[in-house]
Amino acid sequence: MTDNTADHLDAYPPTAEFAAAANAGESLYDRAAADREAFWAEQARRLHWHQPFTRVLDWDDAPFAQWFADGKLNVAYNCVDRHVLDGHGEQVAIHWEGEPGDSRDITYAHLLAEVCRAANYLTELGLKAGDRVAIYMPMVPEAIVSMLACARLGLTHSVVFAGFSPSALRQRVDDAQARLVITTDGQWRRGKPAPLKEAVDEALVGSEHSVEHVLVVRRTEIEVPWTDGRDLWWHETVAEASADHEAQPFDAEHPLYILYTSGTTGKPKGILHTSGGYLTQVSYTHHNVFDHRAGQDVYWCTADIGWVTGHSYIVYGPLSNRATQVVYEGTPNSPDEHRHWQIVEKYGVSIYYTAPTLVRTFMKWGREIPDAHDLSSIRVLGSVGEPINPEAWRWYREVIGSNSAPIVDTWWQTETGAIMISPLPGVTAAKPGAAMTPLPGISAKVVDEEGNPVHLGETEANGYLVLDQPWPSMLRGIWGDPDRYRSTYWERYAEQGWYFAGDGAKLDADGDLWVLGRVDDVMNVSGHRISTAEVESALVGHHSVAEAAVVGASDDTTGQGIVAFVILTAGAADTGQDLIAELKAEVSREISPIARPREIHIVPELPKTRSGKIMRRLLRDVAEGRELGDTSTLVDPNVFEAIRTQKANW
Ligand code: WTA
Repeated sequence: MTDNTADHLDAYPPTAEFAAAANAGESLYDRAAADREAFWAEQARRLHWHQPFTRVLDWDDAPFAQWFADGKLNVAYNCVDRHVLDGHGEQVAIHWEGEPGDSRDITYAHLLAEVCRAANYLTELGLKAGDRVAIYMPMVPEAIVSMLACARLGLTHSVVFAGFSPSALRQRVDDAQARLVITTDGQWRRGKPAPLKEAVDEALVGSEHSVEHVLVVRRTEIEVPWTDGRDLWWHETVAEASADHEAQPFDAEHPLYILYTSGTTGKPKGILHTSGGYLTQVSYTHHNVFDHRAGQDVYWCTADIGWVTGHSYIVYGPLSNRATQVVYEGTPNSPDEHRHWQIVEKYGVSIYYTAPTLVRTFMKWGREIPDAHDLSSIRVLGSVGEPINPEAWRWYREVIGSNSAPIVDTWWQTETGAIMISPLPGVTAAKPGAAMTPLPGISAKVVDEEGNPVHLGETEANGYLVLDQPWPSMLRGIWGDPDRYRSTYWERYAEQGWYFAGDGAKLDADGDLWVLGRVDDVMNVSGHRISTAEVESALVGHHSVAEAAVVGASDDTTGQGIVAFVILTAGAADTGQDLIAELKAEVSREISPIARPREIHIVPELPKTRSGKIMRRLLRDVAEGRELGDTSTLVDPNVFEAIRTQKANW
């Protein structure tokens, strides 16, 4: 055995006290290993089924899975009604904190009434099970109510992050053929209202779109453009509807939502999730990974509902487990850097789940800020979205977790729907920076190009992360594009029938798993997935740009920063800083401010292979200031001289 490796010594086991009281013990792994399908059936039975399932997994039509296929349930009923019927109507579901300082406590009974009103009004609008609804909203309670109302009616929601541009919204609305868009008049940003409904109007202008109505929640009182007949105020319609509504059961495989995510091409993929398997796994993971206790814990996931983390760990996971949770509308530094810790103190947050980029930002702001607050209520910390560096991990545990809270570093993806690889807080001796082990019921491997297992502890011989067994919350496809689903995830290891995650990983000498980051052309900026192709296409959309190559270069705070290299058109009038500023603004406008390049360099040429492929690896070396790797396959190795000369002037 390799007990004395540094990796092994630097591990943080749970205290005996924590382990003894935890939801999940060692035996959970044994039960799952003994009979995987029986294990998942047991987890699924934590939910309420209108019609119990008799089958667990159908994998005959792989890679299209069906879980619990003959069962029927209602997702919203599971997240709201059943808690009220069980006598917990007065329990707070959501402690909502508005950005400007307003707040609302929403009980499960209140949430149920709101969801029923929305469901009744959406029915009145003529929407029927299977129709798509786009939700383009900031973090207001009505966003969660809208998602649950869709789920209740079997409508498939497509939440579009409210930071996305009108053109990104248009693309998503068109792809899903949404009949309704739900939005707000505006959103609060650092104490000021910014328009949002306006962006919906812009997205819908001119296109032959499918949208019949735009439903608008009043949030900021900002003035909004209005199209009579199409546009509807929430407070005049939903708020007036009846609060009685009976939830109908839907098939376990009924589509629940589409969520667009960046792939390796410019066009975002509509990841499709269905009902029974998805809810089973988000509920199971939220219960065990966060050691959540209904009625006792106060849970806070700082994600936005525009991302999968918000879907699974603000809406469906926590609500299915009758959580009391904090939902916060604003940024961590409005009005100042104390905001998160004031909220933790105010509500006694006990489980706090965030992204490494934010932990690194808190580190930069200095520990005296969290130290000024009583954070002793926190007993579990979570991390998601990108690898967490060991230094940030230790700081997180020591400063935010009072040197005692276990950290769960949770690896998963929009496609996996729920957490896949993570420590269990009452079991695992977690190592700073490692996602550790697949959860009970989940199977993963680290393999080389050919699919052979990599050897333990060979840190240089890193491999690819694959999932070698179907799992309940797995994506059921890419909306409208089954071929792309097969080729993106299942072609690479077609022979073995494994899912290719697109991440690099290694196993240390103890066999524990470390996720190393994307191995494709997807960048990870502050935990947000952005494809190089998307940014490149926004850049070449500008009349002064002939060609563009984009790479993710490592960044101390955001994980990766976007660095672009552009060749200008012959006729480009401006070639200086003004143009660079304009190009950055163009990317923000076309995609979102989150995709704005950190640096743009104007270069005479781009390094290409003989087959015309841009050598991004070499550009990354340049962007990160490293010695260049192998340049022998380049058509013109001199191109780097030109880029380097250019770089001397940066
Ligand atoms: C990365 C977010 C390392 C990874 C839930 C993955 C992580 C992509 C971790 C999915 C983690 C997520 N450690 N890397 N704990 N969690 N990632 O779809 O590259 O927005 O493929 O889902 O984020 O991003 P997505």
